[in-house]
Amino acid sequence: MKSRVTIVLGLQWGDEGKGKILDVMASEADWVLRAQGGNNAGHTVEIGGEKFVLHLVPSGILRAKVSCLIAGGAVVDPAGLVKEIEGLAKRKIRTQGRLFLAEQAHLVLPQHRAVDQGSEKKRGLAKIGTTGRGIGPAYSDKATRVGLRAGELALPAAELARRLRERVAAHNRAASSQGWEKISATKTVREIEKAARFLRPYLADGVTLAHRAVAGGKRILIEGAQGTFLDVDHGTYPFVTSSHCTAGGACTGTGVPPTAIQRVVGVLKAYTTRVGGGPFVTEDGTLGHLLHGMGREFGSTTGRARRCGWFDAVLVRRAVQLNGVTEMAITNLDGLDGLEKIPVCVGYRFEGKILHEPPVESSDWARCRPVYRVFEGWCEPTTEARHWKELPRRARIYLAAISQMVGATIGIISVGAGREQTFRHG
Ligand code: GDP
Ligand code: IMO
Ligand code: MG
Repeated sequence: MKSRVTIVLGLQWGDEGKGKILDVMASEADWVLRAQGGNNAGHTVEIGGEKFVLHLVPSGILRAKVSCLIAGGAVVDPAGLVKEIEGLAKRKIRTQGRLFLAEQAHLVLPQHRAVDQGSEKKRGLAKIGTTGRGIGPAYSDKATRVGLRAGELALPAAELARRLRERVAAHNRAASSQGWEKISATKTVREIEKAARFLRPYLADGVTLAHRAVAGGKRILIEGAQGTFLDVDHGTYPFVTSSHCTAGGACTGTGVPPTAIQRVVGVLKAYTTRVGGGPFVTEDGTLGHLLHGMGREFGSTTGRARRCGWFDAVLVRRAVQLNGVTEMAITNLDGLDGLEKIPVCVGYRFEGKILHEPPVESSDWARCRPVYRVFEGWCEPTTEARHWKELPRRARIYLAAISQMVGATIGIISVGAGREQTFRHG
């Protein structure tokens, strides 16, 4: 049977509008699998003016017929997930029998949050600007093979408590010398046991579930979190998250093999944003001021104002290569509606040369200066457009040029946060 798996991921530094695009695409899907990351993510979906922000639960949950899996590549804060599920229940979104938590997923424990926050404090001005959710330390324990996995939530209470106490003791032994806050073992056991009782019915072997869906010819969306340049291998290291946000991570995170992938939809903004530290060649304070003034570009997880800048074609071209993007979904076109001139970065000026590929070192990347090609703005609203031909001529010129520069076709265009403000190109 022909496989029908689509990866949907971010091509910039996260917050590209993946939640919105996934929600739209989920109208024609059976499954949404969240591949990686944790509750550092915040995926916003707006339906009829009502706003949902999803952190761990796949965006497909808002479509009643879609089943959802938090796959093994994700890291799960048990109490955080319970809170999210309860929040959905209050808003009449049913999760029982249609949301599954992979036993393979690693747990984020209170001590991981303490290490994350303590390490950031120690870094001072050189801090990464993490979300403080314990994501890096949880992935670090996974890599050093001392992590606990979601499947262990089903252990008899005494055994789960023993394993938790052992982890907390190791943390507390290291805490003083490292400057981390010590953690109470009793509180940890209480918090995790309570969440375990709630989450047990959701547990499943994520790989078997995913493969059944693939073999059954189900329409599957793999939901990426964060974005290409936050990927621990391919991002602006060390200003990255600790998981693989690129297409390869979608495969390892879910256990769905590369040969089963049919499409890769890269989501990107018509401009660029990033939250936290790290290089950002096209950052522009005036654009940031303008977008923040419109009430836009505040983080959905931490509420921090996002840094804003112009579209960076050097960056997105690399993202298209890394992910094997088969089509792009461009969001937030309407953010540029009022501008008379719109610069696009077509190269980086660095040590007397013009680069067309980003440098390897973040410190070099930070020293690059943008080479801009300036487009005429369209200076009229795009928010009512529902067809390519309804876009202003200059907006079409802008989009076509971007597509040509980065080497990928545009499949979807988004001109507002609402479901209906989306249309296919061609
Ligand atoms: P994600 O993490 O990639 O899912 O993105 P976020 O939800 O963190 O941030 C994207 C923000 O842009 C959210 O507030 C969305 O509601 C909003 N959004 C998505 N697409 C559009 C669009 O085309 N226009 C406008 N105005 N807002 C959009
Ligand atoms: P979604 O899925 C934007 C950023 C943080 C920080 C860096 C490391 O909503 O696009 P972490 O807490 O992961 O160790 O922080 O990564 N970051 C995100 N930025 N969107 C996200 O997720 C992000 N998740 C993490 O701001 O710079
Ligand atoms: Mg987000």
